Amino acid sequence: MIALASDHAGFELKEILKKHLIDKHYDIMDYGTSSTASVDYPIYAKKAANSVARGQCEKGIVCCGTGIGVSITANKVKGIRCALIHDEYTAEMCKKHNNANMIAMGARVVDPELAVKMVDIWLDTQFEEGRHQRRIDEIEEELD
Ligand code: RB5
Repeated sequence: MIALASDHAGFELKEILKKHLIDKHYDIMDYGTSSTASVDYPIYAKKAANSVARGQCEKGIVCCGTGIGVSITANKVKGIRCALIHDEYTAEMCKKHNNANMIAMGARVVDPELAVKMVDIWLDTQFEEGRHQRRIDEIEEELD
């Protein structure tokens, strides 16, 4: 199950990604928003991030104007590794090296065609584990 969420700025991109994922037979959970009426992105990004952190969804995708607000919000939730991605390279590397369980995109930054491509790359790339798992474990360790 893939969680989707956006604010008003990311709404149209979320809908495009939702259609793409449904066409590819992924199960999705849409946490809103449901129109281009102005809303506050943390409300929606938190819902998606919580669903991933609780295991209701395996992965999540969040969109806003820049992708910044939703990524900051999602990364406040323990266990979430939300990568703000901009291109095919970051889409690949956030899975390979960071095992990102969520991605964030800016609807005012990337065009929809690239966004769809980035989602496919992220979903189809394997985490490399090894030294990258050690580094991910270190993220969750307490500070000195
Ligand atoms: C909304 O105008 C915009 O601030 C929001 O979508 C996002 O870019 C925040 O990070």
